[in-house]
Amino acid sequence: MDSTTRDPAGAKRAAGYKAAEMVKDGMVIGLGTGSTVMYTMERLSQRIKKGLAISGIPTSFQTAMRAREYGIPLTTLDDHPVIDLAIDGADEVDPQLRLIKGRGAAHTREKCVAAAAHRFIVVVDEQKMVARLDGLVPVEIVPFAIRPVMDQLQNMGCTPVLREGVKKDGPVITDNGNFIIDARFKKITKPEKLEAAIGLIPGVVESGLFCGFTHKTTVIIGGEKRCRIIP
Ligand code: A5P
Repeated sequence: MDSTTRDPAGAKRAAGYKAAEMVKDGMVIGLGTGSTVMYTMERLSQRIKKGLAISGIPTSFQTAMRAREYGIPLTTLDDHPVIDLAIDGADEVDPQLRLIKGRGAAHTREKCVAAAAHRFIVVVDEQKMVARLDGLVPVEIVPFAIRPVMDQLQNMGCTPVLREGVKKDGPVITDNGNFIIDARFKKITKPEKLEAAIGLIPGVVESGLFCGFTHKTTVIIGGEKRCRIIP
């Protein structure tokens, strides 16, 4: 067992805080979703109290709510279609810095914000680093098209499962009013091709595969004593 598995929350905090240190005065930043980015916002809040002037674009209702609690000024992609950087967590990161996201069903807005950013900082703990992306891909879909989308995903060789709520009966409804299908593939050999192919299915909004941002991605891997940064 390595140090990060002994204290996963500490590792997430270390990564989240490190990313917050990279934010400079005057920046507009994308605020991802999930437990690791919450630490980034915690640290940004401390820095804002000491005079840092920034604004953030939240990728979910959860992030917007927390940002308001932390006193982080918010803005939108309407006002800032191009932004300095986006900071977000991930479920898996492979050696080429391709990602799987969407555990929290926020990946569509996360992808929009990452696309708008000059730089994409991904904050994770060591457990998220994988030799190869695993087979589970969250896919946001328009409810109207659930049946044909499920059929087409199945034809692509996966087992599609409609994500159901916890403390809510029936399907998870995303912040965009859509459903999530968790598509379990036996193996993902070509993530870019898979991302493109899923994106072409009518009714699919976005998949949780993030293969198009590797050129501007920096990954911060939190550890107990120090963070590892790639590249
Ligand atoms: C939200 O839908 C996800 O993409 C999260 O960004 C991802 O699951 C990382 O979350 P944690 O930081 O909580 O692991």
